[in-house]
Amino acid sequence: METPDKPRLDAALAAIAAADAEALEAQRVAALGKAGWITLALKTLGAMTPEQRLVEGPRIQGMRAAVADAITARAAVLDAAALDARLASEVLDLTLPAPEAPRGSVHPVSQVMDELAEIFADLGFAVATGPEIEDDWHNFTALNMAETHPARAMHDTFYFPDVDAEGRPASNSEAVGRQGRMLLRTHTSPVQIRAMVQKGAPLRIIAPGRVYRSDSDATHTPMFHQVEGLVIDEGIHLGHLKWTLETFLKAFFERDDIVLRLRPSYFPFTEPSVEVDVGWQDVGGRRVLGGDGDAPGHGWMELLGSGMVNRRVIEFAGLDPDRWQGFAFGVGVDRLAMLKYGMDDLRAFFDGDGRWLAHYGFTAFDQPTLSAGVGSKETGIRA
Ligand code: DAH
Repeated sequence: METPDKPRLDAALAAIAAADAEALEAQRVAALGKAGWITLALKTLGAMTPEQRLVEGPRIQGMRAAVADAITARAAVLDAAALDARLASEVLDLTLPAPEAPRGSVHPVSQVMDELAEIFADLGFAVATGPEIEDDWHNFTALNMAETHPARAMHDTFYFPDVDAEGRPASNSEAVGRQGRMLLRTHTSPVQIRAMVQKGAPLRIIAPGRVYRSDSDATHTPMFHQVEGLVIDEGIHLGHLKWTLETFLKAFFERDDIVLRLRPSYFPFTEPSVEVDVGWQDVGGRRVLGGDGDAPGHGWMELLGSGMVNRRVIEFAGLDPDRWQGFAFGVGVDRLAMLKYGMDDLRAFFDGDGRWLAHYGFTAFDQPTLSAGVGSKETGIRA
């Protein structure tokens, strides 16, 4: 049926078919918007006679549907074209190498501590920890170093100032309490006491961690790392100590020809005390651990302190020394790392220099395991 709206509808449909996104929206507003011509046409229905409405209603509704359908169809075409254009312009070249991601590394000290934990776990040792801010009793007294003991002087201790209840420096030790002054622990040995007090006996632990001494040069830093070992059980003797250290050092340095020499020594907390030397040999002008320390071209290097736990220490920790015996040892973790991985200046350990860390550090994949080896890097073992 030819009506006065027919040319207008045809024009609108033609414009819609050719519209871009902006023109399409203009067409929608012009026809179907609040004041659009189809909207206005629909409003005329109310004033019509029922007979007129019967004819005009479907006609106008038909125009509305035709325009709405045309707009939907055109929008779909425009959307598809826009997507094609985006896909064509956003090229992702999967053959390019991945961008360089920032990488951290595992510090050799952390790596060596993980290696120690792995080796000693295999021997049935648990890892124990203690506070770095320690009291005088755990750090000295319970380790058989009474207040006047001369060995205390060798520890270059960082003490915290004594303060009274008002925070004023106290001139006498009243404010300090039974456990004594607070200090930065000078060795990991106080963890021996804490482990015995908390866990009782029998006991097999290692205690790696930070220790502090007022000392600084190429081989000493005010903070460094030690690992303590402690075994408490019935019938423990020096043979157990020697076997354990030998087994540990062979696994750690990954050499079967590691030889040890036990030298009599003195530590207040062990009796008898032994200092342990490890043999080295000259290989092409380089000192390498292993071999027979006494042969020509070979030698001994002092490595760690150890001994049978003094019965007074076992008593201080609340155990019966007639029933329980044990051995203990203490060794510098930084030194172990230097020997195994070939660094020669301890200070560089704590400089935080990215180049040093990139060179000597380990990746997260270098997990020490007994099956795959505890030294996942080329080692530069030397004495
Ligand atoms: N605590 C000692 C130090 O820092 C090292 C040591 C020696 C620890 C003998 C021990 C030991 O457990 O038995 O110098």
